[in-house]
Amino acid sequence: MNSAAKARPKLAARPLTPRLGAEISGIDFDEDLSDELFREVYRAFVRYQVLLFSPGDLPPARQVAFARRFGEVQIHVMNQYHADGFPELYRLSNLDEHGKPNGRHPDKGTLAWHTDGSWSRVTGQATLIYGEVMPETGGETHFCDMYGAYDRLDAAWKARIAGLRAVHNLDFSRTRRHGEDPMSEEQRRAKPPVDHPIARTHPDTGRKCIFLGDHAEYIVGMSYDEGRALIEELNRLAVHPDLTYEHRWKPGELIVWDNRCAMHRATAYDPATQRRVIRRCTVLGEVPA
Ligand SMILES: [Fe+2]
Repeated sequence: MNSAAKARPKLAARPLTPRLGAEISGIDFDEDLSDELFREVYRAFVRYQVLLFSPGDLPPARQVAFARRFGEVQIHVMNQYHADGFPELYRLSNLDEHGKPNGRHPDKGTLAWHTDGSWSRVTGQATLIYGEVMPETGGETHFCDMYGAYDRLDAAWKARIAGLRAVHNLDFSRTRRHGEDPMSEEQRRAKPPVDHPIARTHPDTGRKCIFLGDHAEYIVGMSYDEGRALIEELNRLAVHPDLTYEHRWKPGELIVWDNRCAMHRATAYDPATQRRVIRRCTVLGEVPA
């Protein structure tokens, strides 16, 4: 075999902003990734925080198989969203059984900046969203670099949050703030509120980032109202145009991001006239430190 035939596969990464996000080419989703190629994907994931792929058609099984390369895939507690016979996948759709818009946004909680699975002791590492059907307007996904958010804080702010822990609560963000259906008793028992450091250290890079978002309810050792005010203020301070990437989806795209150092949100769309269907899965990470 000549050397050209043996040339190792290579990823190409085109940065989407100076801070975060890269469009990745060189991956064939019809085939299993070699360990070597996956290592390159993971390196890009750690470096860019948000990776955009354009696989075109991506069957659910291939999405789950790719997610498993990152780690253990979460089986979401909100089991009414499980999709395509894969409990690892969570489908958000505003279509009725005839494929027509039903007028209801499937998860309004996604409209606020948040980090997936922060309501769990072991929080989310990667989230993978595949866009099946995308609206003509709205329904974008925005990302924010939380290393940059931490770095932008002045010394007084950094000192103020050092050692503080926030309590994250899925039931709080879903029901009290966004008016979604309440969690069942069983779901609530399975996912009680948990506390995490506000300034966490990314396990791969050793860099500090802010870890808050909309699932954060209050702060340990602080009055409820004082903690709420601090969380709201930090969530607001964290998002800055220099730190964000705003993605306008095309169907058939796959985005993978690192929840440990990036927040995200979806933008609104008209669920009565527009159609939006995504498949999402989240890979479990670690207990934040
Ligand atoms: Fe999310």
